[in-house]
Amino acid sequence: MAFIVKQKIKGKDYYYLRRSFRKDGKVISKHIAYLGKTREEAEKRAKEIIKNMEKFKEEKKMGKINMIKKDISIEDMASFCKRKGFVYSSGEIYGGLAGFWDFGNLGVELKSNIKKEWWKFHVYNREDVIGIDGAIITNPKVWEASGHVSSFVDIAVVCKKCGNKTKIDKFELGKVNCEKCGGEFETKGEFNPMFTTQVGPIKQDSLKSYLRPETAQLIFTNFKAVYDNARMKLPFGIAQIGKAFRNEIAPRDFLFRTREFEQMEIEYFIKPEQKCLYKLSDSEKNKILVYSSEMQTKNKKAQKMKIRDAYKNKIIKTDWHAYWLEQEFLWFVNLGANPENFRIRQHMDDERAHYASDCWDLEYRFPFGWKELEGIANRGDFDLRQHEKHSKKDLKIFDLLTKEKFLPHVVCEPSLGLGRALLVFMFDSYFYDKGRQNIVLKLNPKLSPIKAAIFPIVKKKNFQKLSREIYNELKKEYNVIYDESGSIGRRYARNDEIGTPFCITIDGDSVKNKDVTIRDRNTAKQFRIKIKDLKNVIQKIINNEKLSDFGKIIDTRTKV
Ligand code: GAP
Repeated sequence: MAFIVKQKIKGKDYYYLRRSFRKDGKVISKHIAYLGKTREEAEKRAKEIIKNMEKFKEEKKMGKINMIKKDISIEDMASFCKRKGFVYSSGEIYGGLAGFWDFGNLGVELKSNIKKEWWKFHVYNREDVIGIDGAIITNPKVWEASGHVSSFVDIAVVCKKCGNKTKIDKFELGKVNCEKCGGEFETKGEFNPMFTTQVGPIKQDSLKSYLRPETAQLIFTNFKAVYDNARMKLPFGIAQIGKAFRNEIAPRDFLFRTREFEQMEIEYFIKPEQKCLYKLSDSEKNKILVYSSEMQTKNKKAQKMKIRDAYKNKIIKTDWHAYWLEQEFLWFVNLGANPENFRIRQHMDDERAHYASDCWDLEYRFPFGWKELEGIANRGDFDLRQHEKHSKKDLKIFDLLTKEKFLPHVVCEPSLGLGRALLVFMFDSYFYDKGRQNIVLKLNPKLSPIKAAIFPIVKKKNFQKLSREIYNELKKEYNVIYDESGSIGRRYARNDEIGTPFCITIDGDSVKNKDVTIRDRNTAKQFRIKIKDLKNVIQKIINNEKLSDFGKIIDTRTKV
């Protein structure tokens, strides 16, 4: 029920539309719109607003205003990303180069926000993880010790029926058929996907080395130095974000399989047998599809359950593995990914990498099927042992309690490709609003490339001046844009499509009252906020607080 109320502020009358509703047995009343300074003006305005509210309710019931989830193919996502300035094929004016991509003005921001959020969650918010940044090219002996020179192998195959050229892993040899037509594969040989390079300009004196195929090895080679310098205690992790390169036989599916990509990895070290220090979630909300190697062997379906129960029922062998699988899943979900699109799948015995004693992938339901998003392997002491052997350096640490030296074990290695994470957030936020008739990219504001767009409602000098002042002030803190071209509706649509969470409009009242309208991207609701509060409010709403807690809602229907 909505009704008009009068409020006296500093001796002057102000009229508001107030709405009462029941919530959890309590009656709650809220101002929902400012109506003006006279009774007559207020009644006229209230009538309009109530009529529009009813029309909006009716249209919503009839499905006319409706935000629908749009499922699009990977090709359509690639062309959307190109059109909007997220990602371009690298060197496109020369025809591009398979497996290499450039990030445009929005892509670079999205990528950097994903990395920031990953670092915040995995490093800053924890006491037990610290970061490093290793070199892309290192001493080639690193790759001999790690097994990458001898055991990192892909097999090139061609489909005998349709000619599809692709790669398979060694364990798939003779077991898989062409994913396009089901035809049989013909093997074209084994290839090591490491890119080689010469270090040193004079050929005779130069050293053959490699572009790193994973960031992980630099963590292992620096382990002892980091352990000593940072004075860490087990259990602890070392994190790294950086480029990796693989000369993939068949780069495909846009950012899914590329030749140059970025990884976000942690090597989490424990004393062998050390128990996990953290609790697993008991929330029903955090259930996920679990697909163990046994379920796969017995041709059973994946089962939805809490990761906690998967550990209790011995489906996941170690407490640490269960913990990190849950952390990685929650990182995505907390940033707005759809939990229904995730599952965890255990590697089969013959599928595991040469260094892993157990491995689970966090998989995502891509438009081309369930695929690996992130690998979470138990690497044991394989890597430190190998580096100790090859470098002849003592990498053991000293246990003060037992007075013994030992090699820590990497009980878990969460290893995520940034490009794949970016795809997840793009797919899960891609909606179409039937009422607005445009795409709405519902990215979590923390990830949105542009945090707010600032518009003068029309190109009047005083509106433009105030808009510029607000823009210059907000720009000190956030990536915001100033936009005065085209109709206001067009400007909203442009920003909806690139995921800008807030549009700030400056109008005649703004000049007089020093306030602005903020429009929320997801609901198209508009609120009136004081200019002096803007910075603070934006910061709070980026951090998940509600816009409605900071300003008065205004009539959205008549304003747009
Ligand atoms: N250090 C362990 C490691 O590198 P991986 O399963 O080979 O394990 C880890 O790679 C993650 O890196 C994958 O789950 C994926 O997200 C990403 N990744 C691997 N190869 C990729 C490629 N060619 N293109 C894009 N991302 C890739």
